[in-house]
Amino acid sequence: MPLIGLGTWEADPGVVGSAVQASLDAGCRHLDCAAAYRNEHEVGEALAASGVPREEIFITSKLWNDRRRPADVEAALDKTLSRLGTDYLDLYLIHWPVVWAKDSVMKPDAQASLRETWQTLEKLVDAGKIKHIGVSNYNEAEIKELLSYARIRPAVNQIELHPRLPQTQLVEYCQGHGICVTAYSPLGRGGKTKAGLLTNPTVARVAAVHGVSPASVLLRWNLQRGVVVIPKSVTPARIRQNLEEPWSFRLSEQELAAMATIDDGARFCSPPWSTFADRTRSDDIVTSCLTRLASGIFAVASLDITK
Ligand code: A2P
Repeated sequence: MPLIGLGTWEADPGVVGSAVQASLDAGCRHLDCAAAYRNEHEVGEALAASGVPREEIFITSKLWNDRRRPADVEAALDKTLSRLGTDYLDLYLIHWPVVWAKDSVMKPDAQASLRETWQTLEKLVDAGKIKHIGVSNYNEAEIKELLSYARIRPAVNQIELHPRLPQTQLVEYCQGHGICVTAYSPLGRGGKTKAGLLTNPTVARVAAVHGVSPASVLLRWNLQRGVVVIPKSVTPARIRQNLEEPWSFRLSEQELAAMATIDDGARFCSPPWSTFADRTRSDDIVTSCLTRLASGIFAVASLDITK
């Protein structure tokens, strides 16, 4: 898996295709996708138009939370394959460690389980439709449980990682068990949040010393601890910079120590169904209320059934 990929989360339809094209033109050979991003068909169109041979590109996608029963897992994979215009994925991840009823949001499905989902994914590896399987947003206990029954071990855990949320213990646990870690939102979601990392004074100071952009410092910070990064951008100049500049310098021990002080545990992606180890009691109350609502009153159309 190439160490730097292109993230496509929140890359809007209409622009994600040209971002994929710009990225491939710049030499990127790793695309991170998901059914829930609702833009896989456009990624697929750009891949087809690019003329880059399929086998040169590492493509990841993710199985959404309401597709857990065996037939639904395979149907969801088939849809993703057809949207991306390929007959196999390099990596398929369980997007979140939750089990929802089909076509619902947060309605539990007592007839399905993550174990059965994993066993279905293993069969799809055997069938040649997926090269590697993995997970996303898993905590240490969830990985441990998965390892207790996995015939094919998870290749990857994709989690939110940046200097405000280093999650060092989880990263070391995964790496210690041969599971590659991929960082989503490695730029702290860029300019999307006011408290983003691109304007952090420590990051800016380190960037100035090396004559690089703050984004490159943030990417290098993850790369230097063996973590794969998938920065999202739809801007060609940034796409090129994110691919090239992080390789042009090295962070010193002192710089890493200075960046360690940025850690304040801030998460930019924390939906109510998350199972993160740092959840608070009020998070749990919200989740419990929403789960009851989802079970009793409404079922919201699933994200996975879109084009
Ligand atoms: P855009 O897509 O408009 O280029 P993350 O990967 O942490 O979620 O961050 C994504 C955000 O960071 C997007 O808003 C993206 O903007 C922005 N971004 C990506 N690369 C860079 C860069 N090199 N410099 C500044 N902002 C960037």
